[in-house]
Amino acid sequence: MLHIIKHPLIETKLTKMRSVETLHDEFRRNLNEIASLMVYEILRDYKTKPIKVKTPMTETIGQTFDNEIVIISILRAGLGMTEGILNLVPQARIGHIGMSRDEKTFEPKEYFYKTPQEINKKNSYVLVVDPMLATGNTATDAITKLKVEGWKNIKLVCLVGVKEGINQIEKVHPDVDIFLAARDEKLDEHNYILPGLGDAGDRIFGTKGK
Ligand code: URA
Repeated sequence: MLHIIKHPLIETKLTKMRSVETLHDEFRRNLNEIASLMVYEILRDYKTKPIKVKTPMTETIGQTFDNEIVIISILRAGLGMTEGILNLVPQARIGHIGMSRDEKTFEPKEYFYKTPQEINKKNSYVLVVDPMLATGNTATDAITKLKVEGWKNIKLVCLVGVKEGINQIEKVHPDVDIFLAARDEKLDEHNYILPGLGDAGDRIFGTKGK
């Protein structure tokens, strides 16, 4: 199912990110801040269990997450949201999947794969993070590989997405909820999102342009 998380803070920060005038430092800060705001909403249905806690005054019952939370950052742009998620869930474990897209065929190619091991994959909560949901090929392949490895309870966290990517995920992985800050208009002939915000990796890391 698709969820678009609407909030004035998210919309205004995303507008800053879209602007061609925004440089990598401000772009990165806004992306991480939006990731924090989104994750507050995304984790709403995660289950907690009671634990005893001793306050300076007495003992009481509080709550702790029932299961491990795992962030799977799709390299390299996923790194741009990881810190923002960790601000709210510092206990999360982090996996990385390196995907680059062939500029001619637009097909994703995996060059790195490392996920947390020796934890209960079936019960963990997994957040696959990649800011741009364009064709959806990268996220689809990454999620397929995670499922083959045994991961369940997967959610896909993106910043901006278009119909093509959304349809692709919904078709191949109907059990995976998709979270966006905005649904954009379309893809251009190079499969970049319009109006979008350009190449997220380059803008996060300052590897191209001003
Ligand atoms: N990846 C990006 O970084 N930007 C797009 O617009 C599409 C895919």
